Amino acid sequence: MSFSSNANVLFLCIVVSSALFYYLGLSLFSSTIAKVSHSHLKNEIPNHNISFNKNEIKSTHRSETISEIAVAVVACGDRLDETLTMLKSALIFTEWWQPLRFIIFSDENLTSSFKEKLTEWKSLTNNSLEFELHPITFPQKGKAEEWRKLFKPCASQRLFLPGILSKTDSILYVDTDTLFLSPLKNIWNHFSAMNTSQMAALAFEHEDPNTGWYNRFAHHPFYGPYGVNSGVMLMNLTRMREFHWEDYVIPVYKEFKLKITWGDQDIINIIFHYYPHKLYIYPCRFNYRSDHCMYMSVCSSAEKEGVAVLHGSRGTFHSEKQPAFRAVYRAFEEYQLGTDLIQHLLKPIKAYLEETVHTHCGQIHSIFTKAMDKYLPQITS
Ligand SMILES: *[C@@H]1O[C@H](CO)[C@@H](O)[C@H](O)[C@H]1NC(C)=O
Ligand SMILES: *[C@@H]1O[C@H](CO)[C@@H](O)[C@H](O)[C@H]1NC(C)=O
Ligand SMILES: *[C@@H]1O[C@H](CO)[C@@H](O)[C@H](O)[C@H]1NC(C)=O
Ligand SMILES: *[C@@H]1O[C@H](CO)[C@@H](O)[C@H](O)[C@H]1NC(C)=O
Ligand SMILES: *[C@@H]1O[C@H](CO)[C@@H](O)[C@H](O)[C@H]1NC(C)=O
Repeated sequence: MSFSSNANVLFLCIVVSSALFYYLGLSLFSSTIAKVSHSHLKNEIPNHNISFNKNEIKSTHRSETISEIAVAVVACGDRLDETLTMLKSALIFTEWWQPLRFIIFSDENLTSSFKEKLTEWKSLTNNSLEFELHPITFPQKGKAEEWRKLFKPCASQRLFLPGILSKTDSILYVDTDTLFLSPLKNIWNHFSAMNTSQMAALAFEHEDPNTGWYNRFAHHPFYGPYGVNSGVMLMNLTRMREFHWEDYVIPVYKEFKLKITWGDQDIINIIFHYYPHKLYIYPCRFNYRSDHCMYMSVCSSAEKEGVAVLHGSRGTFHSEKQPAFRAVYRAFEEYQLGTDLIQHLLKPIKAYLEETVHTHCGQIHSIFTKAMDKYLPQITS
């Protein structure tokens, strides 16, 4: 398969139109772009000598500033509360001295709620938090509606982030239905493990050929033996721009649109099928879904070190289908930022999980709190 014939022309169109759209978007919505500067922080980030005993910081001679962690999410429709719960978990699992940026793309009617809540949280925590609120934008005017409908509302936005976030080097993209259960730096550090060809990191869709969806049902190419799940994705946007990622998205979509089921995730699978050396695979504990425990426990990294990122795909945070997933989500949703993490987060999670031991995922409930058991006592002395 070759995209090169019309790729150059397409690339020009995309560059010109996305630049135009971004410019228009910025000027139309500039009032919605909220930036909170470092100078408002209670604690400036020290440039030298980081020695914060509570957090096991070993290096006391670090001379550069700590690099920022950027979490990006696309939130539309009724996903406001779910997104805020995910962002709350990200704040909990980031030490106060670690620069953290939330990059939020949302429907316009959600912007003011995000701004209000994040401003409140910023004043409650010592995190060096910045946030950006962006409207949903698409690169080609005529195609905007088609993209919007491709998957659940506005999920395909993520395919265009390398161009839209043209000044950003790297992001951790997460679906709204995810929760951090361990420090963000553990997943962010995978950037350092990537070699220079790898521009993104993902986990497999399945660990087991008998339950794999792609290997049994897909009518299009996909990555590796079982495909990848796109819900938790490290994206080196610099490298994706160098690769001209967006030149591949539209031709792939046009060629396979009648064969794809899971929208943007399928497009990502198809591209990495042809460019496997550009993808880094991290263990399943960084994108833990009910598939990993609903029949039997198949994610050994989560058994060993605990779930790092929980992904409530197929609505498991809100339905009765997987009580253990709902239990964890409920505790995070109820937790008020700034209150005691052991009393008001860890204990409720364990109590709610106790009620789910009749399910397969509930039987191995300690995997959900294993990483927290280790981390939370360190930051709440
Ligand atoms: C670095 O730490 C040492 C002792 O740990 C202290 O004497 C020194 O003043 C610190 N330097 C800075 C720039 O904070
Ligand atoms: C925002 O608009 C979307 C439709 O565009 C709707 O589904 C959603 O319920 C609205 N959210 C709020 C908070 O009004
Ligand atoms: C915020 O910083 C202050 C002073 O450095 C410290 O006493 C407090 O425990 C910190 N709070 C959190 C939530 O880290
Ligand atoms: C992303 O890739 C660029 C170009 O190779 C590199 O300079 C940068 O350090 C990478 N970013 C991260 C977070 O690894
Ligand atoms: C990076 O790793 C992939 C997968 O192991 C490999 O195919 C590729 O050649 C490596 N690239 C470099 C520059 O080492």
